[in-house]
This record gives sequence, structure tokens and C-alpha cells, in this order.
Amino acid sequence: LGRFIKTVMLEKLESGTIHPFDINGNHIILVRLEDSVYALSGYCTHEETDLANGFLVEDRVICPLHLSQFDCRTGAVLNPPATEPLKLFNVKIEDGWVLVEV
Ligand code: FES
Repeated sequence: LGRFIKTVMLEKLESGTIHPFDINGNHIILVRLEDSVYALSGYCTHEETDLANGFLVEDRVICPLHLSQFDCRTGAVLNPPATEPLKLFNVKIEDGWVLVEV
């Protein structure tokens, strides 16, 4: 098990965009949907493209290179060519801060 690391205040985390963070050597993207926040690996499982440059459409993260789609709530692949899910990190909100377990 990892440690929960403070990233950003929830109120500063805009919905509808992808927020990249590098935490203890992990390249992570944070996505806020309403009051829930999801933390996923920031590299596409197809060819390691940086998903910080990707698109967020509703609850899907879309890779900018070959347009694989991932469910930002679970990391599951929704559209090929990727076949492996994105790693999902645990998130908790404490005193208004978003913490990610790495
Ligand atoms: S690198 Fe992401 S779909 Fe190919």
C-alpha cells in the first residue's frame, strides 16, 4: 500500500478537463466529475502516449494518438486499439484537498 499525497484543492480542480500531476515518479491524470475525483495513469496502455494531451468527453478519456477510450471511473477500455485498462489510483478528499495514494 502507498501513501496518500496531497495534490490540489478540490475547489481548484475544474470539471471537464484533464489535470496532469507527477507524484513520486508516477505520471497521473486527475479528472473531476461533479464532486468525485478520479486518478488514472497518465500514459495510454496502447503506445504510452501522454493522456494529458488527450480529450475528456463526459466520463471518457480519449487518447490523442489512436483514439482509444477509457472509462475515467474505472480505467476500463471502451474503445480499441488499447486492450489493457488504465491503472486507477485511490483518491480521498480531506479538508478540501484531493489526496492520491501512490
Ligand atoms: S497510443 Fe493511445 S490509442 Fe494508441
